[in-house]
Amino acid sequence: MSDKAIENVLHENRIFHPSDQYQTTTGTSLETYQQKYQQSIENPEAFWGAVASELHWFQPFSKVLDWNEPFAQWFVDGKTNLSYNALDRHLQDRPNKTAIIWEGEDGEVRTYTYAELTAEVKKFANVLVNLGVQTGDRVTLYLPMIPEAAFAMLACARIGAVHSVVFGGFSSGALSDRINDAGSKVLITADGGYRRGSTVPLKRNADSAAENTPGLEHILVIKRTGQDVDFKEGRDVWYFDAVQNVSAEHEAVALDAQHPHFILYTSGSTGKPKGVLHGLGGYMVNTYQTTQTVFDLKEDDIYWCTADVGWITGHSYIVYGPLLNGATVLMYEGAPNQPDWGRFWKIIQDHKVTILYTAPTAIRSFMRAGSEFPNSYDLSSLRLLGSVGEPINPEAWVWYYTVIGKEKCPVVDTWWQTETGSIMITTLPGAHAMKPGSAGVPMYGVDAAIVDADGHELGADEGGFLVVRKPWPSMLRTVYGDDNRYKTQYWGEIPHVYFAGDGARRDKDGYFTIVGRIDDVLNVSGHRLGTMEVESALVSHPAVAEAAVVGRPDPIKGEGIVAFVTLQTGFEATEQELKAHVAKEIGAIARPDDIRFAEALPKTRSGKIMRRLLRQIAAGQEIKGDTSTLEDVSVIEKLQKAPQQ
Ligand code: WT7
Repeated sequence: MSDKAIENVLHENRIFHPSDQYQTTTGTSLETYQQKYQQSIENPEAFWGAVASELHWFQPFSKVLDWNEPFAQWFVDGKTNLSYNALDRHLQDRPNKTAIIWEGEDGEVRTYTYAELTAEVKKFANVLVNLGVQTGDRVTLYLPMIPEAAFAMLACARIGAVHSVVFGGFSSGALSDRINDAGSKVLITADGGYRRGSTVPLKRNADSAAENTPGLEHILVIKRTGQDVDFKEGRDVWYFDAVQNVSAEHEAVALDAQHPHFILYTSGSTGKPKGVLHGLGGYMVNTYQTTQTVFDLKEDDIYWCTADVGWITGHSYIVYGPLLNGATVLMYEGAPNQPDWGRFWKIIQDHKVTILYTAPTAIRSFMRAGSEFPNSYDLSSLRLLGSVGEPINPEAWVWYYTVIGKEKCPVVDTWWQTETGSIMITTLPGAHAMKPGSAGVPMYGVDAAIVDADGHELGADEGGFLVVRKPWPSMLRTVYGDDNRYKTQYWGEIPHVYFAGDGARRDKDGYFTIVGRIDDVLNVSGHRLGTMEVESALVSHPAVAEAAVVGRPDPIKGEGIVAFVTLQTGFEATEQELKAHVAKEIGAIARPDDIRFAEALPKTRSGKIMRRLLRQIAAGQEIKGDTSTLEDVSVIEKLQKAPQQ
C-alpha cells in the first residue's frame, strides 16, 4: 500500500452505523456477536461441533479437534460428503428452488434448480468415474465461468477426487506446472470461453500444456464457444459425448473428514506458486457457517459473488458456501464492461440481486466510469454489499456505500486468504458499526492478533504482523507435497502462531486495518502475484540478464507492476516485447505496467537487490532511508534519471 493510501486510511475516521431498519429486521446483534465470539474462543470444540451438526454426516465425528501443531484434524472419524451436503441434502426442502442463475457474457441465461443441479452433478460424477478417476485422484480444471465449472467441482467432491482449479487467464506454461505438481491424470477444459467480446482459446492452451505433462491421460472438453479445436483421439473426450449414456444416479461417497478436498495454487515469495491443500470436513463447516453469518443469508436472497471460480473466493463463496446453505447463486461469465460499464447494474436489476460481493479494484473502475451507469438501473433489490481481495480505500468504500447501496446496505469488508479458506475478519451486518478502510473484527473462532517479530502482542494502533493464534476449521492442511514449506512459512516465521504475511494494526475498538503484504507478494487487482514469479518469467527471455520487480501504487489496480531490467551484452529487447513475454509465460494479469531498462540494479555489498529503493523509484518518490549498504551509489542516480513513462 502506498504512503498516500496509508495516510488516507489514517485520516479516515468516519463511522457508519447499521440502519435501524437493518438492525431490527435482520442481521446479528452486537451482543449476540460478542457472546458467540467469546464462546467460540473459550470452547471451540463446542462451538464448531454444534455448527457441524447442522450438516449431514454418514458417520458422526468422535472428536471436534485434534491439534498437533501445526497440523489440525477437525471432526475426527467423521464421514461426510460436500456434494451431498450442498445438493442432496436440499432435495427434501427445496428441490425446485433455483440453485444457479447463470448469465453468459453474450446475454444467454440458464437456470438450474437444486434437483436439476443435483442431476447434472451426478451425471458429471459418472463421466469422471468412467474416465478412470478414483477417490483421491487429482483432477485439474481450466474452465471459463460456465455452470459446468460448478458441476465439475461438485462432481469431484462427490467422488472424493481432489480438484485443482487453474484460472482460465493463466498461460499454458502455468497450467502445465500446476498439472505436474498435482499429478493430475485428467484435465477438464472447454473449447473456449467468452471474454470482452472475444474468445479465449482454452483448448489450444490445454493442448500446449499437455506437451509437457507426461502423466496426463485425458482431456475432457466442454463445448462452449463452438470454435475449432484440435482433437487427439484416445486422449480427448467431448463432455457432450461422454455424458450421453451415463446413469443419472450416483451415490455420494462417504469420505473421511480429513480427506483432501482441493488444491489451489497461490503465489508466495518464491518463484514457484504453492499448492494450498484444503481438507473436507473443516472447510465445509467453516464456509457453510461464514456464508450464513457474514452475508446474513435468507431463504429468498439472490446472492452474487463476482469472482472467478479460479480463485479461492469463487470456491468458497460462489460454489461451496452458498450451495451448502441452499442459496440461489448468480454466476456471470464475462467482463464488467461488456457491452459497457452498466453490465453489473443491469444484472442486478434483471435478476433482483440482493447481495453483491465484489472487489475494490472493480469498485474503483466503476467509480472512474461514472455514477451515471449505476444510476440508470434499479438497484433497490440490494440489501447487503461485500468487498474482498485487497484493502479498500475509504473513497471507494464511501462510493460503494452511497451510490450502489444508497446508504441502506451494510458493507462487509472481508479479510481472508487462499490459505484461510473462509472469511476471518469482517464486520457483521446489523451488529457492527463500519469504519471505511478497516476490515473489522475477527469472526467466530478466529483468534487474530497483531504482534511484533518475536510474537509479542502490540497495543492499540501499533503496526505489526497479523497472526492467528489458534487453528480454525478451514485452515489449509499443508502445502501440497511439501509439509516442510507449510511448517516454515506459516508456523515458523513467528513461533506458535499462523503467520498471514500481512501487515496490520488494531484500533482501540478492536477493529483490524490491513495495510498490505509484508513479503515479496504483490496484490494486482486483488490477484496475488509473487515478484519472483514475474522476475523468473523476465529472465527466461534470452535478452534479459537480470530483473527486479516491485509494486507501485495504482489508482485502479491497487498495485501495478514495475520491472527493472538489465540486458545481456549484445542483446536488445523492447518494452512491449518484454511485457508480452511475461503475459505469455504467466498470464495477462502478470503483464508489467512499466519496464525500466537499467545499466545495473542497486545491490547491497552482499549482492542482495535493494527493493526498498526500487519501490521508491518506481513510485517516483524521493529516496529515503539508509543507502550506506549500497555497493555502488551511482546506480541509484542513473535509475532516477532513466526515462520515466
Ligand atoms: C491477500 C490474500 C481472500 C480472497 C481473495 C484474495 C489481501 C484479502 C482483504 C481485505 C485487505 C485483503 C491480503 C491477503 N486481502 N482481503 N478485505 N482487506 N487486504 O485471496 O489471493 O489468497 O490473497 O489478499 O493481503 O493476505 P488471496
